[in-house]
Amino acid sequence: MLKVYRGELLHFLADPAKVALQDSYQYIEDGLLIIKDGLVEQVGEAKALLNTLDNDVDVIHYENGLIMPGFIDTHVHYPQTEMIASYGEQLLEWLENYTFPFERQFSDLEHGKRVAEFFLTQLLEAGTTTALVFGTVHKESVDAFFTIAQQKKLRMICGKVLMDQNCPDYLSDTAQSGYDDSKALIEKWHNTDRLQYAITPRFAPTCSTEQLNKAGQLLAENPSVYLHTHLSENKSEIAWVEELFPDSDGYLDVYDKSNLLSRRSVFAHGVHLHDSECQRLSETDSAVAFCPSSNLFLGSGLFNLQQVEKFDVNVGLGSDIGAGTTFSMLSTINEGYKTQQLRGDKLSPFKSMFLATLGGAIALDLEGTIGNFVKGAEADFIVLDYHATPLMDRRMQHCKTLSEKLFILSMLGDERHVKATHIMGERV
Ligand code: GUN
Ligand code: ZN
Repeated sequence: MLKVYRGELLHFLADPAKVALQDSYQYIEDGLLIIKDGLVEQVGEAKALLNTLDNDVDVIHYENGLIMPGFIDTHVHYPQTEMIASYGEQLLEWLENYTFPFERQFSDLEHGKRVAEFFLTQLLEAGTTTALVFGTVHKESVDAFFTIAQQKKLRMICGKVLMDQNCPDYLSDTAQSGYDDSKALIEKWHNTDRLQYAITPRFAPTCSTEQLNKAGQLLAENPSVYLHTHLSENKSEIAWVEELFPDSDGYLDVYDKSNLLSRRSVFAHGVHLHDSECQRLSETDSAVAFCPSSNLFLGSGLFNLQQVEKFDVNVGLGSDIGAGTTFSMLSTINEGYKTQQLRGDKLSPFKSMFLATLGGAIALDLEGTIGNFVKGAEADFIVLDYHATPLMDRRMQHCKTLSEKLFILSMLGDERHVKATHIMGERV
């Protein structure tokens, strides 16, 4: 079955920082996106392709909008949805005072399902079609999340948190129970429909060496699953890791010693990385999730995008809800732009839209599956609306280039500017 969409069309083919700008994307002012059985069949100029279609094929025309691949959120906590915007603390106190008590409720499967339903609805309204998601320590939290994501036919990655020290008793597993529960969840969910599993040690301070080693063992036994954790987010956190793991050569090395670095490993934040750590992330083809809204909200610091770019580390964007304050990748880019300004660096509109789509797909080792419109990719796409708000409408009247349009979309845009979200070619 063919589905055909017409409109202004943009997707990325490569990182604009690595190739000539004009080779990094395909932009078609009046384009056609042809989808067959939920997968991209072809993109091209509407004029040329319309003639090739049978007369009875419906063409849905999105005028005054921009068709792009769905956004990819490479780091987010669904159980923290209802504690977003909790006042006044930096990371360690914020975890202790707000996060841990809140996550306790996710031992209840039905509670998890209710929150997952709301969370996924918010993501889709914001134009995010794939995310790498933290559950809580409870296996029920992952059952709840995957149950709802499966009903919605989404490509989602999630995992049960591992934490066996420096946390409340009610949120603690053990190295063995964490391993057993994760293994059972991998068997139940990994590669079921479009769902994939991530082994999810919370962060070094809450994991014993035995637990981290078990996580490494599980990753070695299941090389197609992900590894998802936090890294070098906050200065007090880093000092604590150095105290807890005196034999390690820095924060990343704690994970490295347990064999947790891989093509499918994603480390959230990395705000305070040493060059040697960037080098190691690059060698192992690991990825970092850049979470500007969270890094500003918790006062964690200004992520050094140029540093990781220099070492050719894979990078995606993360909302990091509930430390982040928005589901919208457009708003996340807005905050990212400002963090780079504060460093004296420029985040170009092409680079930021790349990060939100193909960059995220590469970070998740899903290039060719999501993130752009190459033939055979899953047709998860969105339509951005240049005129959804009076201010953007006015500003767009003075806009001449694609670069300017993308910049305005990301500086003034949010979920209001996502006119439609499509999953496997179907509008949701
Ligand atoms: N480090 C360990 N746990 C968390 C969390 O839940 N959120 C953030 N932002 N950082 C963390
Ligand atoms: Zn996080």
